[in-house]
Amino acid sequence: MELDTKLIHGGPLIDKYTGSSSVPIYQASTFHQSQFAESQEFTYTRFGNPTRKALEETIASLEFAKYGYAFSSGMAAISAVLLNFSHGDHVVLPKDIYGGAYQLVTEMFPKYGIEYTFVDETNLSSWEKAIKKNTRGIYIETPSNPLLTITDIKGVVMMAKQRNILTIIDNTFMSPIYQNPIKLGVDIVIHSATKFINGHSDVTAGLVVTNDEEIAETIYKTQKMFGSMLDPYDCWLVLRGIKTMKVRMEKEVENADFIAKELQKHSKVKAVYYPGLANHKGKELHFSQSSSGGAVLTFDLGSYENAKTLFENVTLPIVAVSLGGVESILSYPYTMSHACVPEKERLELGVTNGLIRLSCGIEDKHDLLNDLLRALDHVISENRPQKKII
Ligand SMILES: Cc1ncc(COP(=O)(O)O)c(C=O)c1O
Repeated sequence: MELDTKLIHGGPLIDKYTGSSSVPIYQASTFHQSQFAESQEFTYTRFGNPTRKALEETIASLEFAKYGYAFSSGMAAISAVLLNFSHGDHVVLPKDIYGGAYQLVTEMFPKYGIEYTFVDETNLSSWEKAIKKNTRGIYIETPSNPLLTITDIKGVVMMAKQRNILTIIDNTFMSPIYQNPIKLGVDIVIHSATKFINGHSDVTAGLVVTNDEEIAETIYKTQKMFGSMLDPYDCWLVLRGIKTMKVRMEKEVENADFIAKELQKHSKVKAVYYPGLANHKGKELHFSQSSSGGAVLTFDLGSYENAKTLFENVTLPIVAVSLGGVESILSYPYTMSHACVPEKERLELGVTNGLIRLSCGIEDKHDLLNDLLRALDHVISENRPQKKII
Protein backbone atom coordinates (compact mmCIF):
# COMPACT_ATOMS: atom_id res chain seq x y z
CA MET A 1 0.00 0.00 0.00
CA GLU A 2 1.38 3.43 -0.93
CA LEU A 3 1.81 6.04 1.79
CA ASP A 4 -1.08 8.24 0.61
CA THR A 5 -3.43 5.26 0.88
CA LYS A 6 -1.88 4.03 4.12
CA LEU A 7 -2.61 7.38 5.80
CA ILE A 8 -6.32 6.72 5.28
CA HIS A 9 -6.53 2.93 5.33
CA GLY A 10 -3.40 1.84 7.26
CA GLY A 11 -5.27 1.61 10.57
CA PRO A 12 -8.94 1.06 11.29
CA LEU A 13 -10.99 3.62 9.35
CA ILE A 14 -14.56 2.69 10.17
CA ASP A 15 -16.15 1.57 13.42
CA LYS A 16 -16.74 -2.17 13.27
CA TYR A 17 -19.99 -1.96 15.29
CA THR A 18 -21.76 0.93 13.56
CA GLY A 19 -19.83 1.54 10.36
CA SER A 20 -19.24 5.19 11.32
CA SER A 21 -16.74 6.84 9.01
CA SER A 22 -14.39 7.73 11.81
CA VAL A 23 -13.40 5.58 14.76
CA PRO A 24 -15.61 6.83 17.62
CA ILE A 25 -14.26 8.43 20.76
CA TYR A 26 -14.76 5.65 23.29
CA GLN A 27 -14.98 8.09 26.19
CA ALA A 28 -15.11 5.49 28.93
CA SER A 29 -12.85 4.74 31.85
CA THR A 30 -14.13 1.17 32.23
CA PHE A 31 -15.99 -1.54 30.30
CA HIS A 32 -18.86 -3.77 31.40
CA GLN A 33 -17.70 -7.37 31.73
CA SER A 34 -20.57 -9.56 30.59
CA GLN A 35 -19.01 -12.95 31.35
CA PHE A 36 -18.17 -13.46 35.01
CA ALA A 37 -14.39 -13.77 35.66
CA GLU A 38 -13.61 -14.16 31.97
CA SER A 39 -11.14 -11.95 30.19
CA GLN A 40 -12.17 -9.61 27.40
CA GLU A 41 -10.25 -7.25 25.12
CA PHE A 42 -11.11 -3.98 26.88
CA THR A 43 -11.55 -3.77 30.64
CA TYR A 44 -10.19 -0.41 31.80
CA THR A 45 -8.95 2.52 29.69
CA ARG A 46 -5.55 2.72 31.34
CA PHE A 47 -4.98 -0.85 30.14
CA GLY A 48 -6.51 -0.37 26.70
CA ASN A 49 -9.17 1.61 24.83
CA PRO A 50 -10.59 1.07 21.31
CA THR A 51 -9.85 4.63 20.15
CA ARG A 52 -6.29 4.40 21.45
CA LYS A 53 -5.90 0.98 19.86
CA ALA A 54 -6.89 2.44 16.47
CA LEU A 55 -4.24 5.15 16.81
CA GLU A 56 -1.60 2.68 17.99
CA GLU A 57 -2.28 0.39 15.02
CA THR A 58 -2.14 3.35 12.66
CA ILE A 59 1.24 4.65 13.84
CA ALA A 60 2.68 1.13 13.82
CA SER A 61 1.57 0.73 10.22
CA LEU A 62 3.01 4.11 9.17
CA GLU A 63 6.38 3.34 10.76
CA PHE A 64 6.60 -0.23 9.40
CA ALA A 65 6.41 -1.60 12.93
CA LYS A 66 4.34 -4.32 14.57
CA TYR A 67 3.59 -2.55 17.85
CA GLY A 68 2.59 1.04 18.67
CA TYR A 69 1.79 2.88 21.92
CA ALA A 70 0.20 6.29 22.49
CA PHE A 71 1.26 8.52 25.38
CA SER A 72 0.03 11.79 26.84
CA SER A 73 3.00 13.75 25.42
CA GLY A 74 6.27 13.29 23.59
CA MET A 75 8.05 13.55 26.95
CA ALA A 76 5.81 10.83 28.42
CA ALA A 77 6.87 8.62 25.51
CA ILE A 78 10.56 9.48 25.94
CA SER A 79 10.34 8.87 29.71
CA ALA A 80 8.62 5.51 29.23
CA VAL A 81 11.53 4.39 27.06
CA LEU A 82 14.50 5.96 28.85
CA LEU A 83 13.39 5.16 32.39
CA ASN A 84 13.51 1.48 31.52
CA PHE A 85 17.29 1.52 31.73
CA SER A 86 18.58 0.24 35.04
CA HIS A 87 21.13 1.06 37.68
CA GLY A 88 24.62 0.58 36.23
CA ASP A 89 23.53 0.93 32.57
CA HIS A 90 25.18 3.52 30.33
CA VAL A 91 23.38 5.43 27.55
CA VAL A 92 24.93 7.50 24.75
CA LEU A 93 22.98 10.52 23.47
CA PRO A 94 23.51 13.44 21.08
CA LYS A 95 24.71 16.80 22.38
CA ASP A 96 22.13 18.62 20.28
CA ILE A 97 19.14 16.98 21.90
CA TYR A 98 15.65 18.30 22.65
CA GLY A 99 15.89 20.31 25.91
CA GLY A 100 13.25 18.24 27.73
CA ALA A 101 15.10 14.99 26.98
CA TYR A 102 18.31 16.64 28.20
CA GLN A 103 16.64 17.59 31.46
CA LEU A 104 15.18 14.10 31.92
CA VAL A 105 18.59 12.49 31.42
CA THR A 106 20.63 14.90 33.52
CA GLU A 107 18.15 15.13 36.41
CA MET A 108 16.54 11.67 36.52
CA PHE A 109 19.31 9.30 35.40
CA PRO A 110 21.55 10.13 38.40
CA LYS A 111 18.67 9.29 40.77
CA TYR A 112 18.48 5.81 39.28
CA GLY A 113 22.25 5.30 38.91
CA ILE A 114 22.08 5.31 35.09
CA GLU A 115 25.23 6.70 33.44
CA TYR A 116 25.16 8.82 30.29
CA THR A 117 27.46 10.50 27.79
CA PHE A 118 26.54 13.24 25.31
CA VAL A 119 28.49 13.12 22.04
CA ASP A 120 29.01 15.19 18.92
CA GLU A 121 26.26 13.45 16.97
CA THR A 122 27.61 14.52 13.57
CA ASN A 123 30.77 12.44 14.00
CA LEU A 124 30.31 8.67 13.85
CA SER A 125 33.58 8.00 15.64
CA SER A 126 32.47 10.07 18.65
CA TRP A 127 29.54 7.65 19.14
CA GLU A 128 31.96 4.73 18.99
CA LYS A 129 34.43 6.33 21.41
CA ALA A 130 31.66 6.89 23.94
CA ILE A 131 30.61 3.24 24.04
CA LYS A 132 31.61 1.48 27.25
CA LYS A 133 31.30 -2.08 28.53
CA ASN A 134 28.03 -1.20 30.26
CA THR A 135 26.50 0.77 27.35
CA ARG A 136 22.97 -0.56 26.88
CA GLY A 137 21.38 2.17 24.82
CA ILE A 138 22.04 4.70 22.07
CA TYR A 139 19.57 7.55 21.57
CA ILE A 140 19.47 9.48 18.28
CA GLU A 141 17.63 12.63 17.21
CA THR A 142 18.09 13.50 13.52
CA PRO A 143 17.72 16.15 12.25
CA SER A 144 18.23 17.60 15.70
CA ASN A 145 16.37 20.34 17.51
CA PRO A 146 17.14 23.22 16.99
CA LEU A 147 20.27 23.09 14.81
CA LEU A 148 19.13 20.39 12.38
CA THR A 149 22.38 18.45 12.74
CA ILE A 150 22.48 15.07 11.03
CA THR A 151 23.34 11.70 12.57
CA ASP A 152 24.24 8.69 10.45
CA ILE A 153 21.39 6.38 11.48
CA LYS A 154 22.66 3.26 9.70
CA GLY A 155 26.22 3.85 10.93
CA VAL A 156 25.11 4.11 14.55
CA VAL A 157 22.75 1.12 14.21
CA MET A 158 25.53 -1.06 12.79
CA MET A 159 27.88 -0.16 15.63
CA ALA A 160 25.13 -0.82 18.19
CA LYS A 161 24.04 -4.16 16.71
CA GLN A 162 27.62 -5.51 16.82
CA ARG A 163 27.58 -4.86 20.57
CA ASN A 164 23.98 -5.78 21.34
CA ILE A 165 23.09 -2.19 22.25
CA LEU A 166 19.49 -0.96 21.95
CA THR A 167 18.91 1.92 19.51
CA ILE A 168 16.24 4.57 20.04
CA ILE A 169 15.39 7.52 17.82
CA ASP A 170 13.29 10.64 18.25
CA ASN A 171 11.78 10.94 14.75
CA THR A 172 9.63 13.99 15.48
CA PHE A 173 11.20 16.38 12.97
CA MET A 174 10.85 14.14 9.92
CA SER A 175 7.62 12.34 10.90
CA PRO A 176 6.78 8.93 9.39
CA ILE A 177 6.19 10.71 6.09
CA TYR A 178 9.86 11.43 5.44
CA GLN A 179 11.95 9.08 7.59
CA ASN A 180 11.28 5.49 8.67
CA PRO A 181 14.01 4.45 11.12
CA ILE A 182 12.62 0.93 11.71
CA LYS A 183 13.56 0.21 8.09
CA LEU A 184 17.10 1.37 8.90
CA GLY A 185 17.35 -1.09 11.80
CA VAL A 186 16.48 1.17 14.76
CA ASP A 187 14.81 -0.73 17.62
CA ILE A 188 12.51 1.95 19.07
CA VAL A 189 11.05 5.01 17.33
CA ILE A 190 9.56 7.86 19.34
CA HIS A 191 7.45 10.80 18.17
CA SER A 192 6.17 13.91 19.79
CA ALA A 193 2.80 13.61 18.01
CA THR A 194 2.08 17.08 19.36
CA LYS A 195 3.95 18.26 16.27
CA PHE A 196 3.47 17.15 12.63
CA ILE A 197 1.50 13.97 13.32
CA ASN A 198 -1.42 15.77 14.94
CA GLY A 199 -0.48 18.93 13.13
CA HIS A 200 -2.98 21.46 14.46
CA SER A 201 -1.39 22.69 17.71
CA ASP A 202 -4.35 21.48 19.74
CA VAL A 203 -3.10 18.25 21.37
CA THR A 204 -0.03 17.06 23.26
CA ALA A 205 0.74 13.43 22.47
CA GLY A 206 3.61 10.98 22.17
CA LEU A 207 3.99 7.74 20.23
CA VAL A 208 6.39 4.81 20.49
CA VAL A 209 6.75 1.97 17.98
CA THR A 210 8.89 -1.15 17.82
CA ASN A 211 9.07 -4.48 16.03
CA ASP A 212 10.43 -6.37 19.00
CA GLU A 213 7.87 -8.29 21.04
CA GLU A 214 9.83 -8.14 24.29
CA ILE A 215 10.43 -4.38 23.99
CA ALA A 216 6.76 -3.92 23.11
CA GLU A 217 5.70 -5.77 26.24
CA THR A 218 7.97 -3.54 28.36
CA ILE A 219 6.65 -0.34 26.77
CA TYR A 220 3.05 -1.49 27.23
CA LYS A 221 3.65 -2.31 30.89
CA THR A 222 5.33 1.05 31.45
CA GLN A 223 2.44 2.89 29.81
CA LYS A 224 0.07 1.00 32.10
CA MET A 225 2.16 1.42 35.27
CA PHE A 226 3.00 5.10 34.71
CA GLY A 227 -0.60 5.76 33.62
CA SER A 228 0.79 8.04 30.94
CA MET A 229 -1.45 6.88 28.08
CA LEU A 230 -3.20 9.30 25.72
CA ASP A 231 -6.88 9.89 26.49
CA PRO A 232 -9.57 8.79 23.98
CA TYR A 233 -10.51 12.27 22.77
CA ASP A 234 -6.91 13.21 22.00
CA CYS A 235 -6.37 9.83 20.31
CA TRP A 236 -9.29 10.66 18.05
CA LEU A 237 -7.86 14.12 17.26
CA VAL A 238 -4.46 12.62 16.40
CA LEU A 239 -6.16 9.99 14.20
CA ARG A 240 -7.93 12.79 12.38
CA GLY A 241 -4.69 14.77 12.02
CA ILE A 242 -2.89 11.77 10.53
CA LYS A 243 -5.28 11.60 7.57
CA THR A 244 -4.00 14.94 6.25
CA MET A 245 -0.38 14.66 7.42
CA LYS A 246 1.12 14.15 3.98
CA VAL A 247 -0.76 16.96 2.23
CA ARG A 248 -0.01 19.30 5.12
CA MET A 249 3.65 18.40 5.27
CA GLU A 250 4.23 18.70 1.53
CA LYS A 251 3.13 22.34 1.68
CA GLU A 252 5.06 23.01 4.89
CA VAL A 253 8.25 21.57 3.38
CA GLU A 254 7.80 23.59 0.19
CA ASN A 255 7.49 26.74 2.32
CA ALA A 256 10.51 25.89 4.51
CA ASP A 257 12.72 25.11 1.52
CA PHE A 258 11.76 28.39 -0.16
CA ILE A 259 12.23 30.53 2.94
CA ALA A 260 15.54 28.91 3.95
CA LYS A 261 16.97 29.65 0.50
CA GLU A 262 15.71 33.24 0.54
CA LEU A 263 16.95 33.95 4.07
CA GLN A 264 20.36 32.57 3.16
CA LYS A 265 20.76 35.44 0.68
CA HIS A 266 19.84 38.12 3.23
CA SER A 267 22.66 40.29 4.56
CA LYS A 268 21.17 40.53 8.06
CA VAL A 269 21.00 36.75 8.49
CA LYS A 270 24.23 35.34 9.90
CA ALA A 271 23.50 31.66 9.26
CA VAL A 272 20.65 29.41 8.16
CA TYR A 273 20.36 25.79 9.25
CA TYR A 274 18.16 23.65 7.02
CA PRO A 275 18.93 20.14 5.71
CA GLY A 276 17.70 21.10 2.24
CA LEU A 277 20.38 23.76 1.78
CA ALA A 278 23.31 22.86 -0.47
CA ASN A 279 25.86 23.84 2.18
CA HIS A 280 24.11 22.20 5.18
CA LYS A 281 26.56 19.92 6.97
CA GLY A 282 25.48 16.31 6.44
CA LYS A 283 23.02 17.15 3.66
CA GLU A 284 23.92 14.11 1.54
CA LEU A 285 23.80 11.80 4.51
CA HIS A 286 20.43 13.22 5.47
CA PHE A 287 18.97 12.59 2.03
CA SER A 288 20.31 9.03 2.07
CA GLN A 289 18.12 8.26 5.09
CA SER A 290 15.24 10.68 4.63
CA SER A 291 13.25 11.96 1.66
CA SER A 292 12.88 15.63 2.60
CA GLY A 293 14.61 18.60 4.19
CA GLY A 294 11.60 18.94 6.50
CA ALA A 295 9.48 21.89 7.52
CA VAL A 296 11.70 23.42 10.21
CA LEU A 297 14.57 25.81 9.70
CA THR A 298 16.69 27.77 12.12
CA PHE A 299 18.50 31.02 11.50
CA ASP A 300 20.84 33.23 13.45
CA LEU A 301 20.52 37.00 13.60
CA GLY A 302 23.67 37.38 15.67
CA SER A 303 22.28 38.99 18.81
CA TYR A 304 19.48 39.11 21.34
CA GLU A 305 18.50 42.61 20.16
CA ASN A 306 18.17 41.50 16.53
CA ALA A 307 16.14 38.44 17.49
CA LYS A 308 13.88 40.58 19.68
CA THR A 309 13.31 43.06 16.86
CA LEU A 310 12.33 40.28 14.47
CA PHE A 311 9.93 38.71 16.96
CA GLU A 312 8.33 42.08 17.66
CA ASN A 313 7.75 42.83 14.00
CA VAL A 314 6.50 39.59 12.44
CA THR A 315 2.76 39.37 12.05
CA LEU A 316 2.02 35.97 10.47
CA PRO A 317 3.84 33.26 12.45
CA ILE A 318 2.62 32.79 15.98
CA VAL A 319 5.38 33.20 18.56
CA ALA A 320 5.28 30.02 20.57
CA VAL A 321 6.98 26.94 21.93
CA SER A 322 6.32 24.00 19.56
CA LEU A 323 6.37 23.24 15.86
CA GLY A 324 4.57 21.19 13.26
CA GLY A 325 1.25 23.06 13.22
CA VAL A 326 -0.68 24.24 10.15
CA GLU A 327 0.18 27.78 11.28
CA SER A 328 3.81 28.91 11.09
CA ILE A 329 5.45 29.03 14.50
CA LEU A 330 8.43 31.15 15.43
CA SER A 331 10.38 30.08 18.50
CA TYR A 332 13.35 31.34 20.45
CA PRO A 333 15.23 28.17 21.51
CA TYR A 334 17.48 30.14 23.88
CA THR A 335 14.60 30.77 26.30
CA MET A 336 12.06 28.23 25.07
CA SER A 337 12.97 24.62 24.09
CA HIS A 338 16.49 24.89 25.57
CA ALA A 339 15.85 27.02 28.63
CA CYS A 340 16.48 23.98 30.84
CA VAL A 341 19.98 23.44 29.39
CA PRO A 342 22.62 25.34 31.44
CA GLU A 343 23.66 28.53 29.64
CA LYS A 344 27.31 27.51 29.15
CA GLU A 345 26.26 24.27 27.44
CA ARG A 346 23.56 26.03 25.43
CA LEU A 347 26.14 28.41 23.99
CA GLU A 348 28.68 25.64 23.37
CA LEU A 349 25.98 23.84 21.38
CA GLY A 350 25.37 26.88 19.22
CA VAL A 351 22.01 27.71 20.78
CA THR A 352 22.92 31.39 20.82
CA ASN A 353 20.79 34.36 21.79
CA GLY A 354 20.41 35.31 18.12
CA LEU A 355 19.00 31.93 17.08
CA ILE A 356 15.42 31.71 15.79
CA ARG A 357 13.52 28.56 14.80
CA LEU A 358 10.77 28.69 12.22
CA SER A 359 8.32 25.84 11.74
CA CYS A 360 6.57 26.54 8.48
CA GLY A 361 2.83 26.18 8.29
CA ILE A 362 0.61 25.88 5.21
CA GLU A 363 0.26 29.61 4.50
CA ASP A 364 1.31 31.11 1.16
CA LYS A 365 5.11 31.08 0.97
CA HIS A 366 5.36 34.61 -0.45
CA ASP A 367 3.18 36.03 2.31
CA LEU A 368 5.41 34.32 4.87
CA LEU A 369 8.61 35.51 3.27
CA ASN A 370 7.38 39.08 2.86
CA ASP A 371 6.37 39.17 6.50
CA LEU A 372 9.85 38.02 7.56
CA LEU A 373 11.53 40.49 5.18
CA ARG A 374 9.46 43.37 6.55
CA ALA A 375 10.45 42.36 10.08
CA LEU A 376 14.10 42.07 9.03
CA ASP A 377 13.95 45.67 7.73
CA HIS A 378 13.64 46.72 11.38
CA VAL A 379 16.80 44.81 12.35
CA ILE A 380 19.64 47.28 12.52
CA SER A 381 22.93 45.43 12.35
CA GLU A 382 24.13 43.78 9.18
CA ASN A 383 25.96 40.48 9.47
CA ARG A 384 28.66 39.35 7.14
CA PRO A 385 27.25 37.80 3.95
CA GLN A 386 27.31 34.03 4.06
CA LYS A 387 29.64 31.84 2.08
CA LYS A 388 28.64 31.62 -1.56
CA ILE A 389 26.46 28.60 -2.19
CA ILE A 390 27.56 26.30 -4.95
C1 LIG B 1 12.26 16.78 18.97
C2 LIG B 1 11.31 16.79 20.10
N1 LIG B 1 11.15 15.68 20.82
C3 LIG B 1 10.30 15.63 21.87
C4 LIG B 1 9.57 16.73 22.26
C5 LIG B 1 8.66 16.65 23.45
O1 LIG B 1 7.34 16.53 23.02
P1 LIG B 1 6.08 17.00 23.92
O2 LIG B 1 6.16 18.48 24.04
O3 LIG B 1 4.93 16.48 23.14
O4 LIG B 1 6.22 16.35 25.24
C6 LIG B 1 9.70 17.92 21.53
C7 LIG B 1 8.94 19.11 21.92
O5 LIG B 1 9.18 20.19 21.44
C8 LIG B 1 10.59 17.94 20.41
O6 LIG B 1 10.76 19.05 19.71
